[in-house]
Amino acid sequence: MIGRFFHKPLGAWFEALSLGDDKPTVRVKQLGERDRFRMRKHFLSLDKDDRLLRFGTMLPDEQVIAYVDKIDFNRDTIYGVYNRVFKLVAVGHLAFAPKEQLTSSPDVTAKEKVAEFGVSVLASARGQGIGSKLFQRAAIHCRNVDVDTLYMQCLSSNQTMMHIAKKAGMTIHRECGEADAYLRLPPPSPGTVMQEALEEQFATIDYTFKATNRAAAKLFER
Ligand SMILES: CC(C)(COP(=O)(O)OP(=O)(O)OC[C@H]1O[C@@H](n2cnc3c(N)ncnc32)[C@H](O)[C@@H]1OP(=O)(O)O)[C@@H](O)C(=O)NCCC(=O)NCCS
Repeated sequence: MIGRFFHKPLGAWFEALSLGDDKPTVRVKQLGERDRFRMRKHFLSLDKDDRLLRFGTMLPDEQVIAYVDKIDFNRDTIYGVYNRVFKLVAVGHLAFAPKEQLTSSPDVTAKEKVAEFGVSVLASARGQGIGSKLFQRAAIHCRNVDVDTLYMQCLSSNQTMMHIAKKAGMTIHRECGEADAYLRLPPPSPGTVMQEALEEQFATIDYTFKATNRAAAKLFER
């Protein structure tokens, strides 16, 4: 499914809708300034093992907060998944950088920039396809902004991430306990542009609905 996703993204997306996958539908929303507070909560609730997997080092709370506070929503693209009660259960951070910065072999692409993706899903929400969906969304965005190389750095002991990377067809290089995985992406198409726009529209409706419900519930609690 993930392989087909990169070649016929819109078709695969409609197929997933009509086949009624038994996993709940995952709505990936682009995050902005107003989500920063919830992003802090999300990252702070990752335990020390997950912080190690996500950042490659065991970041203490202050550095986690500093990381979130420094995120520039105009420069990077941040994706999130909210659960039923408007809790931010997953965050994906897509950053673009000149290729010389992210790779030691700039010949990997003729484009000026490459992308790097980092992702975290709360333990309570894992195994529902959220991590994979965030990755797919980031890949579609890269295609639409004409970036053809998507990197992911993680520990090679990170079995789940290795599984997701392999399933997506990424090329993986392992060195000193770390794995550098990258995916070559095809150019954009009308299908990818349409798919990104549709997904964001659906996610915005879902987000607004959940945010309103949450606000109403808080009001009644009071
Ligand atoms: C890695 C992570 C993002 C995955 O999130 P998720 O929402 O559970 O991922 P998905 O549900 O999309 O996919 C998990 C896949 O891994 C598989 N998997 C789970 N545990 C596994 C393991 N120990 N070994 C191999 N595969 C495993 C699942 O079966 C599933 O495969 P499938 O889609 O073929 O059924 C999440 O575990 C996490 O946040 N980990 C901590 C932070 C981290 O490691 N970030 C990555 C580095 S940037």
